[in-house]
Amino acid sequence: MTEAPIKLLPRNGNGAPPPQKLRLHVFRHNPSAPASVPRMQTYEMDDADGLTFFVALNEIRERQDPSLQFDFVCRAGVCGSCAMMVNGRPMLACRTMLRDVGPEITLAPLPGFALIADLSVDTGTWMRGMSERLRAWVHLRDPDFDLDRLEERMDPDLAERIYELDRCIECGCCFAACGTARMREDFVGAVGIEKIARFRLDPRDARSDADFYELIGTDEGVFGCMSLVACHDVCPKNLPLQTQIAFIRRKMVAAAFK
Ligand code: SF4
Ligand code: SF4
Ligand code: FES
Repeated sequence: MTEAPIKLLPRNGNGAPPPQKLRLHVFRHNPSAPASVPRMQTYEMDDADGLTFFVALNEIRERQDPSLQFDFVCRAGVCGSCAMMVNGRPMLACRTMLRDVGPEITLAPLPGFALIADLSVDTGTWMRGMSERLRAWVHLRDPDFDLDRLEERMDPDLAERIYELDRCIECGCCFAACGTARMREDFVGAVGIEKIARFRLDPRDARSDADFYELIGTDEGVFGCMSLVACHDVCPKNLPLQTQIAFIRRKMVAAAFK
């Protein structure tokens, strides 16, 4: 039996195979420029070890196209500013390797938020509006709170449970993945429901379930959620969104019939 000839990969000067070519198809549009028309633009680059979108997009902006707009602040998955659609899925671009999603890669801005330009969206205005609607801060029992007083002690296990929900970085990935958010303009999203879960857990917060029902006991709140849990699947901080949404829905149903 004759063996099939072995195909040799072309090699570069060091004897290593040449790097894989990556093609990035990037959404371009600047709504504040009257002549701008939404379009896709393709950039090419070589793959490299550890190449994240933070490095790749900055490289493109430095060497190929200084007009490309996108956001990065922390580069460490902490600030939430770099979320974008990578091959149709919301992700934190600073924590994503091109190698894991390439070689053909489509980048688009997160849906559901006002577009600033290209891959940059204004999540901050939406998050602030949602937080104000849901009054997402601790409502103290004592209105004359003394800042010089020693902090109240909290059971460490409870503090840990609150911390678990407090890890949200308001990146907007859950909202971008949410079908209800596309259909209901005022839907608070998993991020909003999760905030209610966080403050409901906090013993310093004086609000009752009846108070929380006033905030999210509607179709724009927890009853609009279709429970398909795309939010849970894409949350880069692995927050327990599925469990929290189900839990808050049960509590709000109970509050409605009290
Ligand atoms: S819940 Fe998760 S996906 Fe949603 S904003 Fe917070 S960190 Fe991002
Ligand atoms: S489970 Fe609810 S909040 Fe999460 S993506 Fe689906 S509809 Fe949106
Ligand atoms: S740059 Fe801060 S989370 Fe990606």
